[in-house]
Amino acid sequence: MCNNLHIVIGITGGIAAYKSLSLIRLFKKAGAEVKVVATPHALEFVTPLTLQTLSQNTVYSDMFGTAEKVDVEHISLAEWADAVVVAPATANIIGKLANGIADDALSTMLLACTKPLFFAPAMNKNMLAHPAVQENLRTLQQRGITFIGPDAGFLACGTTGEGRMKEPEEIFSTVWDALTTTQVLKGRRALVTAGPTYEPIDPVRFIGNHSSGLMGFALARTLARHGAQVTLVTGPTHLEVQHPMVERVDVTTAAQMLEACEAAAPTSDIIIMSAAVADYTPETVAPEKIKKNDDKLVLPLKKTTDILATIGKQKTENQCVVGFALETEHEEANALTKLKNKNADIIVLNSLRNEGAGFKCPTNIVTIMDRNGNKVQGELKDKAQVAEDIVTYVIDYMNLKNSL
Ligand code: CTP
Repeated sequence: MCNNLHIVIGITGGIAAYKSLSLIRLFKKAGAEVKVVATPHALEFVTPLTLQTLSQNTVYSDMFGTAEKVDVEHISLAEWADAVVVAPATANIIGKLANGIADDALSTMLLACTKPLFFAPAMNKNMLAHPAVQENLRTLQQRGITFIGPDAGFLACGTTGEGRMKEPEEIFSTVWDALTTTQVLKGRRALVTAGPTYEPIDPVRFIGNHSSGLMGFALARTLARHGAQVTLVTGPTHLEVQHPMVERVDVTTAAQMLEACEAAAPTSDIIIMSAAVADYTPETVAPEKIKKNDDKLVLPLKKTTDILATIGKQKTENQCVVGFALETEHEEANALTKLKNKNADIIVLNSLRNEGAGFKCPTNIVTIMDRNGNKVQGELKDKAQVAEDIVTYVIDYMNLKNSL
């Protein structure tokens, strides 16, 4: 849905330029193509070779080529871009664009650019407070430029105050959301489960698993970015929800997750069960801490209710239910059996045989299959991108694109 975006990153001369290296990586990881325009001052902080290696493209700067060639290149770059992100944006570049000055590669490109512009300012707090800078910021804001930050905090000049560049993750997600948000799912409700469940043994111990919740949180955010109102039922995790359209319901055990899902499912159009629910739970929970008196300890366990199968059984015709299958052998056959037995519409297969896939990884490789016999084999991707692929698949499966 949002691969192949063309992003130009403009880098100006501030110490925060080193953080732009992470910004390039974040865009690349998300599948965008990145080209960098750096001012000569920026190249005092970061080298062209580093920028070129990370972006996998030639770096544009005044230091290369003749003046005329530079001019032509920077105008074609403005056309190539889907968006331009200037990070860090110094008082100087802000002042230049506000006043129509084009005296170097970056300012020329910015003036020629009609695409969305994002600025992440970074400067000394007194510079930021200066009426000239404030007026320039207002001017650019009125012309539709999006400012990301700055933050307050420790500044490179040794003082503390406002003027610190926002962290690359926040710059990236602001830009990415702005460029990839759609309203395809507006008016739809979605239910997502995420994370592990913890099944208590006694007041201090539990049976759990290594699920981080990353996949489910990425799915909830992606659905929300496409306009859905999302209920995210999550087991214990340190992750935070990053979208106002996601309502989080925290649970601990499989039984609590079932209850929360049964409450939300009837009004949900899309249900995605990515939680790693415990299959077994202790038959009884010891009221006091179990002492280590015996050489052996046997814990009788009973099966938990299969949430996906329960929801699948109650599913109505207009609902789309998506399950996950974690397999280590006969992957596709086992996943298809789960799809059928649990009455899901779509099954997302994770194979633990694949390197880079699994519980704690930020990446995943999945195969998506549906009850009509269709199959899409994915590649190793960031979990946010995998979430995008899964949501795109669901949208296509439900034919929502044309019906809205
Ligand atoms: N699931 C569920 N409730 C459970 C167990 C699993 O909703 N009590 C869901 C998971 O969220 C996932 C799907 O069922 O969407 C498949 O989970 P998985 O662990 O791969 O399969 P199981 O059904 O537990 O079977 P097995 O462990 O035997 O492979």
